[in-house]
Amino acid sequence: MFESMHEGHPVYGNLIGGEWKVSQSGQFIDIHSPVDGSLVGKIPAMTQEEVKEAIAGTKENQAAWAALPVYERANILHKAASLLEERSEEIADILVMEIAKDKKSALSEVTRTADLLRYTADIGKGMEGQAVSGENFPGGSPDKISYVNRVPLGTVLAISPFNYPINLSASKIGPALIGGNAVLLKPATQGAISALHLARALNDAGVPAGILNTVTGKGSQLGDFIVTQEGIDFINFTGSTEVGMRISQLSCMKPLLMELGGKDAAIVLEDADLDFAADNIVSGAYAYSGQRCTAVKRILATDKVADALAQKLKERIEALKIGDPRENAVITPLISDKAADFAQELIDDALEKGATLVTGGERVKNLLSPTLLDHVTADMEVAWEEPFAPVLPIIRVKDVDDAIAIANRSEYGLQSSVFTHNIDEAFYVAKRLEVGTVQINNKTERGPDHFPFLGVKASGMGTQGVRYSIEAMTRPKVIALNLQNS
Ligand code: NAP
Ligand code: G3H
Repeated sequence: MFESMHEGHPVYGNLIGGEWKVSQSGQFIDIHSPVDGSLVGKIPAMTQEEVKEAIAGTKENQAAWAALPVYERANILHKAASLLEERSEEIADILVMEIAKDKKSALSEVTRTADLLRYTADIGKGMEGQAVSGENFPGGSPDKISYVNRVPLGTVLAISPFNYPINLSASKIGPALIGGNAVLLKPATQGAISALHLARALNDAGVPAGILNTVTGKGSQLGDFIVTQEGIDFINFTGSTEVGMRISQLSCMKPLLMELGGKDAAIVLEDADLDFAADNIVSGAYAYSGQRCTAVKRILATDKVADALAQKLKERIEALKIGDPRENAVITPLISDKAADFAQELIDDALEKGATLVTGGERVKNLLSPTLLDHVTADMEVAWEEPFAPVLPIIRVKDVDDAIAIANRSEYGLQSSVFTHNIDEAFYVAKRLEVGTVQINNKTERGPDHFPFLGVKASGMGTQGVRYSIEAMTRPKVIALNLQNS
């Protein structure tokens, strides 16, 4: 059973071989809501032996799954998308309580995921392979022809973060499945119940037994074990740079796709429309309390615009609704007290070193008011650290080149925004920024989900995005035909 009751609380199982199983160890992890501390449910703490069995289970039917015509795999993804839509209210309510995402954003995560699965199915059907003639290369012959198709890698380990438990699980599972792989999903512990609802939709839609198995348990206890298992053929990870680096060190020769942390800059040039920039920066920085890899995490502006911009930001930030995600507050409790402590330390450090508090800085437990700091300088931690909280620093720069230099001094390289009416200046800046994506006159953001999405430096390796993810989790298989006397 997907969900049973124990002492009045829901207990969830893991999907293993098409069945919902709790751990034989009898060990559970209590998932408490960051909203009010209530118990959302219990998830199994799986043992290493059970993880091994779950990996072995992905091997049993993978070849048959890969042999299924792609349109049949696509039909299953379409059905799963419809089930997600049918269950969107129920799943969004779980997201609200499990990760304190506001209801509107939670619903949007579910419907965005349905769209992603459908798009993935359709792109998968359109990936047709290639025939390459030998005559194109010097000395080659038209009698030598290579037929190139894409084949799966085997078992993909999908590890997803807490902030998009449905969408960032599906963005790995969908492309892996359409490519013919089996998947082992290890969701974030806080977020696992939501992710299990995704697994349920895929299972109900007809993903065969063992083709999607899930394992729950703390990453700190199970992580090293899972990523080093022989049966894992590919690791698709989204999460912090710290954990990503550890996986990369341990995984030894396993191919990786990693989307990690960021410190996205919004560079506001002197000719920018400041109202427009302020609207974008506020929604980019504070949506879901700044707990997005692509959140705007610093503003780089010259003195000429910084005062006016700070004022416009202040007005907008003070209008943000703070509080309960069930009531569609934008600023909701952070995922944990620890996360709030970290953000608080960044604010305290900046204020001690002379930053100006424009607005915010208040805290009740894990609920932090949206905070804007001005006159932040390079010696302050908030200039470089990713708060993953509603904390935004303004760093004043001398000119455009200074902005580019400071932007590039970050260890991260996910995205940046540049606000200007001057397209030449926009391209001047964009070409010089060491990031995966530059947004001209927009907040930093991942979507639409078919765009390539990637980070450079400590922000990741490999490229996500529907087609790119399918390509990453499949490989070319070449069959060379050598005609005789044609
Ligand atoms: P996290 O702490 O790194 O956790 C991510 C996932 O890794 C969770 O499932 C976690 O499980 C697991 N994990 C923890 N330790 C592990 C280990 N040693 N080996 C294998 N897996 C392990 O990140 P988070 O707090 O969930 O998410 C926030 C971070 O993710 C931020 O840095 C953010 O920028 C980044 N992020 C990046 C993107 C992107 O696309 N670039 C998107 C979203 C988030 P447990 O929950 O059980 O610990
Ligand atoms: O948290 C990281 C996500 O990949 C960000 O996605 O820009 O659509 O919020 P988003």
